[in-house]
Amino acid sequence: MERTLVLIKPDGVQRGLIGEIISRLERRGLKIVALKMMRITPELAARHYAVHQGKPFYEGLIRYITSGPVVAMVVEGPQAIEVVRKTMGATDPAKAEPGTIRADFGLTIGRNLVHGSDGPETAAFEIGLFFREDEILSYERAIDPWVL
Ligand code: PPS
Repeated sequence: MERTLVLIKPDGVQRGLIGEIISRLERRGLKIVALKMMRITPELAARHYAVHQGKPFYEGLIRYITSGPVVAMVVEGPQAIEVVRKTMGATDPAKAEPGTIRADFGLTIGRNLVHGSDGPETAAFEIGLFFREDEILSYERAIDPWVL
């Protein structure tokens, strides 16, 4: 089992796509083990995107992610990191495969709706940034024997 951090970014919230995005993850069989709506502060944004500091898109990325409420969640499942990233599609929605979240609802890289951790170390770091240990639940679902 693997865990990953997923963010529904401000454009996803503003466009009323929270349910659609969560539904796509759930329908694959992924399990939500933590979930909250929050506003990302500039300080948290800077820590989350620290590796991108200095890149040309950095300032715009910070403005975008702090521009309105986001939904943060921890998603669990076999190979959850890769499965979430495939379900989201390529970073640039214009290049994403049809059927992915970013291709079906997005058009430009600066408004790409969702974030998913890009590897096991990043996932552990990002989950720790957004959630305390006691906010992450372990529980069995009735569907688990059927989808996993
Ligand atoms: S890099 O340089 O290859 O590591 O960057 P990449 O992994 O493609 O993207 C890192 C995050 O920055 C976002 N991004 C952008 N935002 C706004 N404008 C532009 N041009 C842009 N390019 C990349 C991208 O969505 C990644 O954020 P997350 O939250 O991980 O999707």
